[in-house]
Amino acid sequence: MDLPDSPPASDPASASASDPDTPGSPIPVGVLGGSGYTGLEVTRLLARHPAVELRFTSSRSEKGAPSPAPGLPFTAPDPVAAAEVEVLFLCLPHGEAAAWVEALRSSGKKPPRIIDLTADHRPGSGREAGAVYGLNEWSRPQLAGAEFVANPGCYPTGVLLSLLPLVDAGLVDVERLTVVSAASGVTGAGRSARTDLLFAEVANNFRAYGWGNRHRHLLEMRALLPGVDLLFQPHLLPVPRGITETIVLPVRECVDASAVRSSWDARYSGEPAIRLVGDRLPALDEVVGTDLLALGAVELQDVREPAVLVGAALDNLGKGAAGQAVQNLNAIYGWPTEWGIRCA
Ligand SMILES: NC(=O)c1ccc[n+]([C@@H]2O[C@H](COP(=O)([O-])OP(=O)(O)OC[C@H]3O[C@@H](n4cnc5c(N)ncnc54)[C@H](OP(=O)(O)O)[C@@H]3O)[C@@H](O)[C@H]2O)c1
Repeated sequence: MDLPDSPPASDPASASASDPDTPGSPIPVGVLGGSGYTGLEVTRLLARHPAVELRFTSSRSEKGAPSPAPGLPFTAPDPVAAAEVEVLFLCLPHGEAAAWVEALRSSGKKPPRIIDLTADHRPGSGREAGAVYGLNEWSRPQLAGAEFVANPGCYPTGVLLSLLPLVDAGLVDVERLTVVSAASGVTGAGRSARTDLLFAEVANNFRAYGWGNRHRHLLEMRALLPGVDLLFQPHLLPVPRGITETIVLPVRECVDASAVRSSWDARYSGEPAIRLVGDRLPALDEVVGTDLLALGAVELQDVREPAVLVGAALDNLGKGAAGQAVQNLNAIYGWPTEWGIRCA
């Protein structure tokens, strides 16, 4: 796929390092957890990024097998190799990222910059001190030169990017409940074998899970939307990947869907990874396989109190994970946000 304004990926070293629109010497990067669903996607994107050199992508169970980076088989996770890259992507299970970070910090050497895709250092985790929360379109000033980035969760990315501009603009009636009904494809649960995720359990089915308003992603959503009374209900979609989030948004008197769309326009116009679809709700097939978030808003008929229906769609492995991680890498170095991601 061609990237607007990006130089040919085959010749990154030929360009000047002083021009932020052209890459200089490639930055050495590595991936821990490269054979998981997010790690595969991060590996795929980094292998074609014009300004990095992917040194390794790790897997214990698939050591020696080909990875999505041409000519770079998976290698066992190695603390020495991990400490030698300039940027390390952590695509590990919950808890393992914190353990790796601890080990790298106590090694006595300066640790690499880290982009952590796990929840271990996100707001509300108790370990967020010193980490920039990488909600890319909102955090770019803090991301510039950052040493540690906590990449947002997949569900929170859609909820926060849709609601933050609306809360900022004073459109939301925060005294009333904001209800998010979300559905994710099965890769959202990771690649480890689980009986409840077998094809025969998931296919031709649709079910809610994590009910009771206790999903762990609520921690980071609440941290970023402190005044909003959020009800978040996820569902398991019988597809490999993709998320839709349908939000019943309580709004103040005289606020309608066009005011919602105008707020997004003002905040996101020109953002390559955000597609505003207007007066409709976006569908999965508009975003799966891309690093885009699609947003739309429509009026609600016959409700007693004013409310607008907001729809967000994203690929949980794209904008919900790897795409945003690569945008955050770009923000650290001041590179164009679209380098290495799929937003055409
Ligand atoms: N899936 C999503 O949609 C999504 C979206 C956003 C964020 N996230 C977060 O991203 C992280 C990764 O998710 P995932 O879905 O990619 O998980 P996954 O499919 O289960 O992959 C985990 C990866 O970590 C490796 N690994 C496991 N234990 C390890 C250890 N102790 N040391 C080194 N490597 C280890 C695994 O390979 P080996 O066992 O072969 O080493 C595998 O490559 C999770 O924390 C998740 O919450 C996931």
